[in-house]
Amino acid sequence: METVLSGIRSTGHLHLGNYFGALRNYIKMQNEYNCFFFIADLHSLTTHPHPDDFHSGVRTILAEYLASGLDPEKSAIFVQSDIPEISELYVLLNMISYKGELERTASFKDKVRQNPDNVNAGLLTYPVLMAADILIHRANKVPVGKDQEQHLEIARVLARRFNSMYGSEVFPEPQAFNFGSDLIKVPGLDGSGKMGKSEGNGIYLFDDEKVIHKKVMKAVTDSGPTEPNSPMAESVQNLFTLLSIVSDTATVQQFKDAYNDCTIRYGDLKKQLATDICKHTLPIREKIESIYHDDVYLSKVIKRGTELARESARATMKEVRSAVGFRSFLVNVND
Ligand code: TRP
Repeated sequence: METVLSGIRSTGHLHLGNYFGALRNYIKMQNEYNCFFFIADLHSLTTHPHPDDFHSGVRTILAEYLASGLDPEKSAIFVQSDIPEISELYVLLNMISYKGELERTASFKDKVRQNPDNVNAGLLTYPVLMAADILIHRANKVPVGKDQEQHLEIARVLARRFNSMYGSEVFPEPQAFNFGSDLIKVPGLDGSGKMGKSEGNGIYLFDDEKVIHKKVMKAVTDSGPTEPNSPMAESVQNLFTLLSIVSDTATVQQFKDAYNDCTIRYGDLKKQLATDICKHTLPIREKIESIYHDDVYLSKVIKRGTELARESARATMKEVRSAVGFRSFLVNVND
């Protein structure tokens, strides 16, 4: 069975884009692949979160993952920093990663531009840590968005380089898992582009009813159609796309007809959209709340996930250490 691995940083909340997009597919994948899902808390340290908030960030994402349907009986769900082998592999991969190639990474260049005062080495080697995450489980497939494709390419380069440098075949080359048409692209509320956590255009699974209504009512539209069957502005098209994700087809059709005969009132469309989003997310929000506070359940989930992940990581590191040439000085005195 092929191994699939996916990581998410421990900052922020899951939004509708994550939920109706990748997560929907992860839930299905759990039945067909050997799945590893983890929270990349080490990666989050590049932005220096305060220690008082650090754990709650990890706990939040974990509760949101679980409430959305990731199943700890089917998948290994774990936290990156609980697996010391990842950091060990990261050190070794750093030795075969070159400054020039890391500096050329688009995400690094962006970060330098956005945050010139915090260009730390962890930021430069972010893709190396990500490669360690992937290679430690010898993952075959990694579902990634466009913004992470270059990082996955670096993981492939490092896998090949390690294998050829040490004459080993420890690492398979991880491929992008392309969901193709199974991946629903969820647009944002700001009139263009997709929903994302840095864009501030999103609705979070954790938003309450009031917040959801407020955000949707503020969504960008145009001034309305003045002629029958006029083309739709992207902002309005986006609201229809959102509606088609959360509402039934008759409702969508009713608003489409209203648009086409110019009787539509965007306020009504938005009210319907907000109500139907709530129908999906409010039950999840309740689950998030209860899981977040359920120490016993979270402990059980993480215990199992960590065991599975460490078992897989230890097996890889054994081969890696041997390939690199580490030999123990310890002898068995009974021999
Ligand atoms: N860098 C990814 C992101 O920002 C998160 C991540 C860390 C990841 N390690 C990973 C994703 C390994 C896939 C595989 O979204």
